[in-house]
Amino acid sequence: KKILFVTSEFAELVKVGGLGDVSAALPRALRAQHDIRVLIPGYRQVLESGNVIRIIAQLPGQAALPPCRIGRMDLDDGLIIYVLLCPELYERDGKPYGDNHGRDWDDNHIRFARLGLAAAEIAAGCLSWQPELVHANDWPAALAPAYIAWKRLRTPSVFTIHNLAYQGLCDPACGPELALPAEAHSPDSMEFYGKLSFLKAGIVYASHITTVSQTYAREITTEAFGCGLQGLLKRKEEQGQLSGITNGIDESWQPKTDPHLLQGFQIHEWELKRRNARHVDEMFGLQPCEGPLFIVVSRLVHQKGLDMTLKIADSIVAGGGRLAILGQGEPALEAELLALAVRHPGHIGVHIGFNETDARRMFAGSDFLLMPSRYEPCGLSQMYAQRFASLPIARRTGGLADSIEDGVTGFLFQHGDAESYFEAVQRALNVFKHPQLLNAMRCQAMAAPQFWAQSVEPYDRLYKRLLQEQAAVRV
Ligand code: ADP
Ligand code: GLC
Repeated sequence: KKILFVTSEFAELVKVGGLGDVSAALPRALRAQHDIRVLIPGYRQVLESGNVIRIIAQLPGQAALPPCRIGRMDLDDGLIIYVLLCPELYERDGKPYGDNHGRDWDDNHIRFARLGLAAAEIAAGCLSWQPELVHANDWPAALAPAYIAWKRLRTPSVFTIHNLAYQGLCDPACGPELALPAEAHSPDSMEFYGKLSFLKAGIVYASHITTVSQTYAREITTEAFGCGLQGLLKRKEEQGQLSGITNGIDESWQPKTDPHLLQGFQIHEWELKRRNARHVDEMFGLQPCEGPLFIVVSRLVHQKGLDMTLKIADSIVAGGGRLAILGQGEPALEAELLALAVRHPGHIGVHIGFNETDARRMFAGSDFLLMPSRYEPCGLSQMYAQRFASLPIARRTGGLADSIEDGVTGFLFQHGDAESYFEAVQRALNVFKHPQLLNAMRCQAMAAPQFWAQSVEPYDRLYKRLLQEQAAVRV
């Protein structure tokens, strides 16, 4: 079947977090079953990726959404990417959602409405290739199902929520700029507490909503995790239109062959794994010692619970551990972490930045990954860590609860307080003192089934079901 996968990140080209990994991996995993192609904005990073882009269509402007062109880019492995070319919206110095100082672009509603509208225009047949189903991801692509509905197209759509907390809110006064119909302003549509919510539009208009783990699919129907949308999501769940499909990781996450590592290793080769720890020590200026190496690789945002790691960091050092942190995000958190490193020279090292190679080396070299997230739709870092024999210590929530078996492939704690968290760290410190137990857990973690293969089937089934339902309505 012909599927258009609409996304605002794609790992090899431009990535902020896990959405980038999923967007690069899932379409590839589904290619054996479907003719699946990706639509992504033509950010500077995409245009400068060195791939040839051939212009194949011209789209007119509508309201404040400028005219644009669609380019086709064929990646080396044959995956086809449609690039939405609109220099005034996308060709900027900075990141997909904001500038290099972490400030969101103030025309994001226009930038991503343009993406959603382009998806709907492709669904309507503006290219020689016409998708039979559109799969939109997160708020930046969420207007795709809405514009499809407003154009009275019959193309079924899937909307995947990777993070409910990012909603893409804008002022209702922007409605006319985005060529929204009057109905968009109704609470049954995308109106949300006096604003317009892109994310809500995706939920309301998609034929089916998925999210990236089963636990998170349940959590978002509750007040504690629903970000104000729990009522709507509960209804969708009752109508059988909300489900959880856990993400996987791609085949590049193999500690033996990963070209980013200075020393590959496989199961039982713990001495070789230790050499990776030495590299991390050098990278972060840590004093090599016999104690465990803890790491953090994370966006530095409230979701990830770094304030809790700040609270227990002294105790980790007192317990004989050392800590390496790589991340970027909220300036206040960055500053606090840097100050923490200054207080613990040789024991805690902090790098502010984004670096794929360093991240992989850290997963390979560490004993434990800290991930005390307040909520976690799926989480990929814990799976990467497991694959590289680093045991995650994480809050029992969302995809963390689904991918970590407590005391077997990592450590989970229940309550979102520092005591509960430190109790899990303590258990990890104890396990570290018993190499046989530690190594047994490492083996279990490395063997945990996480590759995409297992997620392909539920997506495949979902696509087929929606296409059948649509065909049945047509008859
Ligand atoms: P989220 O999408 O919420 O950020 P995930 O765990 O799903 O969380 O995915 C995060 C991805 O981004 C992982 O691939 C992780 O390794 C990567 N990552 C996060 N921060 C950094 C960083 N500073 N440098 C390199 N990779 C990072
Ligand atoms: C989001 C979530 C993360 C998830 C990723 C990919 O960024 O925060 O938990 O793994 O999307 O689905």
